[in-house]
Amino acid sequence: MLIAVDGPGASGKGTISRALAAHFHLPHMDTGMLYRAVALNLWRWGGDPASEFEALRACDVAAVDPDDPELRSEPISSIASRVSAYPSVRTALLDRQRQFAQQPGGAVLDGRDIGTIVAPDADAKLFVTASSEVRAQRRVRELLERGLPAHYEDVLTDIRARDERDSSRATAPLRQAGDADVLDTTSLNVGEAIAEAIRLVDQRLKK
Ligand code: DC
Repeated sequence: MLIAVDGPGASGKGTISRALAAHFHLPHMDTGMLYRAVALNLWRWGGDPASEFEALRACDVAAVDPDDPELRSEPISSIASRVSAYPSVRTALLDRQRQFAQQPGGAVLDGRDIGTIVAPDADAKLFVTASSEVRAQRRVRELLERGLPAHYEDVLTDIRARDERDSSRATAPLRQAGDADVLDTTSLNVGEAIAEAIRLVDQRLKK
């Protein structure tokens, strides 16, 4: 069984995807981490995010420690959003995601283009969303819990800029697949959001 979960940053898609993976006993891939790894590589080398060529050279994502706390920092989030707009960077990361999606037994993948590009034939697709204000509050909480600096107004501005970039880029923009179920988590707590996600997936699987 293949489950695709897409949506903007801090919508809750990561938490929901991990819960779906645990519930359905499936492996999970957070594809945003691949773009964050490219961003961190580039940043550490002193590369220029405005250069597609330099971003492509930073695509050796296996070189990045997946537990590096910098991966979730705001500067890296912003660079990840910029480098993810480059078609060559997206192509360089596509095989890894498709292989994960096609493994026997299935998988859960979350990102921006899973239901549209990486796994358009997924059995169930969720598009998880929430208001930008609620997402900024969640991101601030998450950053503070990780011991990273965070200011609400800055994070909100950044989230809106990232939404705009992720949605308006020419290659694989963030958009809802035609056959995705929308899950708006604005007024849901974590438990409610997970329960609704499981219900939507179960409903799709019965169809
Ligand atoms: O989900 P996230 O915030 O960790 O993703 C970081 C950036 O990576 C985000 O700004 C857009 C990009 N991304 C993407 O373009 N495609 C994906 N499948 C996942 C993430």
